[in-house]
Amino acid sequence: MHHASPERDAWSSRIGFVLAAAGSAIGLGNIWRFPYVTGQNGGAAFVVLYIAFVLLIGTPVMVAEIAVGRHARLNPVGAFRKIAPKSLWYMVGFLGVATGIGILSYYSVIAGWTFGYFIKTVSGTFSSSITSDQSVIVFTNFVSNPIQAIFFLFVFIGLTTLVVMGGVSSGIERWVKILMPILFALLLILTIRSVTLNGAVKGLEFYLKPDFTKIHGSTVAMALGQALFSLSLGMGAMITYGSYISKQDNLVISAAWVCFFDTMIAIVAGFLIFPALFAMGLDPAGGPGLVFVVLPTMFADMPLGAFFGAGFFLLLTVAALTSTISLLEVTVAYMVDEKKWHRKSAALFMASLAFILGIPSALSFGGVDWLSKIPGIGLGFLDLMNISLGNYSLTIGAFLISVFVGYKWGIHAVRSEIEEYGNIFFFRKIWTFLIRFICPVAIFAIFVYIVVTKNYF
Ligand code: PFF
Repeated sequence: MHHASPERDAWSSRIGFVLAAAGSAIGLGNIWRFPYVTGQNGGAAFVVLYIAFVLLIGTPVMVAEIAVGRHARLNPVGAFRKIAPKSLWYMVGFLGVATGIGILSYYSVIAGWTFGYFIKTVSGTFSSSITSDQSVIVFTNFVSNPIQAIFFLFVFIGLTTLVVMGGVSSGIERWVKILMPILFALLLILTIRSVTLNGAVKGLEFYLKPDFTKIHGSTVAMALGQALFSLSLGMGAMITYGSYISKQDNLVISAAWVCFFDTMIAIVAGFLIFPALFAMGLDPAGGPGLVFVVLPTMFADMPLGAFFGAGFFLLLTVAALTSTISLLEVTVAYMVDEKKWHRKSAALFMASLAFILGIPSALSFGGVDWLSKIPGIGLGFLDLMNISLGNYSLTIGAFLISVFVGYKWGIHAVRSEIEEYGNIFFFRKIWTFLIRFICPVAIFAIFVYIVVTKNYF
């Protein structure tokens, strides 16, 4: 039984929500972003921080967002406005909508590369053995071609728009159910190949043996940002998806499953990338090109490599698609609920904005010089977007959401939302402690620390 209005979409079952939310969470964040950020931040010690943040901050904020969404049955702006009318809390929703467009814009650039690499693999670019040096050249040529980068960005945003125009539940649930398990199986097979390469041990050491002296400056902020990004938290994606779930579901259990699946995939991706990377003698701090350089080199040199390679890039494209759908959906839900736009026009409008905003990101890998290294900042445009929105904006959002749920809306309201239909609120006391004290205080402390040390990225 759904209490939704006839126009409001709904997941068909608890498993439907878990699948869609896992589809949002699992994406490039796990397989592209996690390994390269881990590589840039020293390896195992970063992984320890990341896991701690998933447990102490990510999981409680996940419960909080879903509860807000299901209670209000609205987009983030509407949800804050409904729960706290005549206050400024709805601004947190706006921050989320803006962040959603911004992340969608650059995320789709990387997703476009993924799709491009699928086509490259199928068309035989990596069929004969290539060295890692050659793979770097293929990558650099590919991403610095402006027409190509913009073309793939367009294709990818177009795909996302088509799905969102049709409504969320019908497409995603079905795709995720079939394709995510295949992606996981493929990851495991490829990981076995990676860890058995000559010289893989050094990569395992880098990934598993923490050296806490490597933690300094922005490392902690990066680990927190990565945890939030990977779980799709801090911008209302889970508020939006939560607004489509049934009152009968135990949302604590659903939240826990999503966090568990997402973290598993990220950890396995590390086992896939680092052994192969060290076996090839590459630099773990190589940045956003990491997976696009390491994996094709590995595929080129393994039995049925073209088959596994094509499968991998195709499934990663789908995983990215189920994430961009949620990014676009946040902004579309806002336009539909609050501005009474039609779903189709809202999707077209927001996607066009994201496409235009994505162009400088698409040109920031050699296509246009000053975008590749912005004067005075030293980062490329995409990197800058990725850090400011994918880390800091989500972190600020998560801070505000935890304060809102812990103090404004209040623990009792959450409790009745969760227990209303006789469900058990597992770990209620621990959750209360985490959301009221640990989340806001830890996030605040991290901000003070990076501001004081001026170590932003
Ligand atoms: N969680 C997605 C990933 O790991 O690829 C990215 C993402 C989706 C971030 C939706 C934020 C969001 F709201």
